[in-house]
Amino acid sequence: MSSQSAPQKRRQTVPRIQARKGGKKPLTMLTAYTYAHARLVDAAGVDMILVGDSLANVCLGHETTLPVTVEQMVYHTAAVRRGTEQALVVGDMPFLSYNVSIPQAIENAGRFLKEAGADAVKLEGGTEVAETVRAITRAGIPVMGHVGLTPQTVSKLGGYKVQGKSALAARHLVDACLALEEAGAFAVVMECVPSDVASEITQRLEIPTIGIGAGPSTDGQVLVFHDVLGVFVNGFEPRFVKRYANLGEQAVKAISEFVQEVQTGAFPAPEHGFAMTRGEGDKLSGALSEPTRGTVADGLVASESE
Ligand code: KIV
Repeated sequence: MSSQSAPQKRRQTVPRIQARKGGKKPLTMLTAYTYAHARLVDAAGVDMILVGDSLANVCLGHETTLPVTVEQMVYHTAAVRRGTEQALVVGDMPFLSYNVSIPQAIENAGRFLKEAGADAVKLEGGTEVAETVRAITRAGIPVMGHVGLTPQTVSKLGGYKVQGKSALAARHLVDACLALEEAGAFAVVMECVPSDVASEITQRLEIPTIGIGAGPSTDGQVLVFHDVLGVFVNGFEPRFVKRYANLGEQAVKAISEFVQEVQTGAFPAPEHGFAMTRGEGDKLSGALSEPTRGTVADGLVASESE
């Protein structure tokens, strides 16, 4: 083996992520759902890739995250794993995959590691899921919590609303995060939580907090791939999103050009096609006028090997 092989990228691990708690360099997490997404996100140096159950919304076109299945999540997490060299891959456990019983929760969580190669799982909820978090963690599966606006319980919450706005609700959020930490969660996502509340929780926890619509004081930030890149033209944009590109507009423009060029004959040009083997073109009309010799496969093999 060559001693000059390319330097190995340093793979993120749960302990490395935890060691960044309170550090100067905030953690970054972005969602990804396919091999191609993962290659892009990983190449950009993001610390953690979340295969979010937002898959249901942004890839499958559902209105809520509820319909997505464990099967679909595991399938997409495996694709993301194949496209990831350095980031920590976190698979999102879908609605009802961890709420029915603790043994079923462990089995479903295990599928993300065994079948998809994820490094960890994420699940939504606070004090009510603490025992489940404890059991999954004890089985050797790192768990990331998710509190605040938890999209899987949108019906119970009465819509996609900011959580923890009153002192009492904020107190419940603090308790929820402490319960998750005590149960063994290695990090916790806080979604749509007032910045002051997120800051208070971040100071009280020993594990990293990752915010989405939770202000600047968390230990890290997470956003959805499609939001950051502006994949949807005229899509709804939550206030906490910052769009860094307008890929959707660029994509529609590029595809329209393709349509136009095909229709006008500008594409494909000669350089996009292939030529016959030198001298064979002259023999073509003769070959077409004679009965076929040999099989179609013989012809294919002959031309492939030349
Ligand atoms: O599913 C998802 O994308 C998420 C993030 C918004 C945190 O849970």
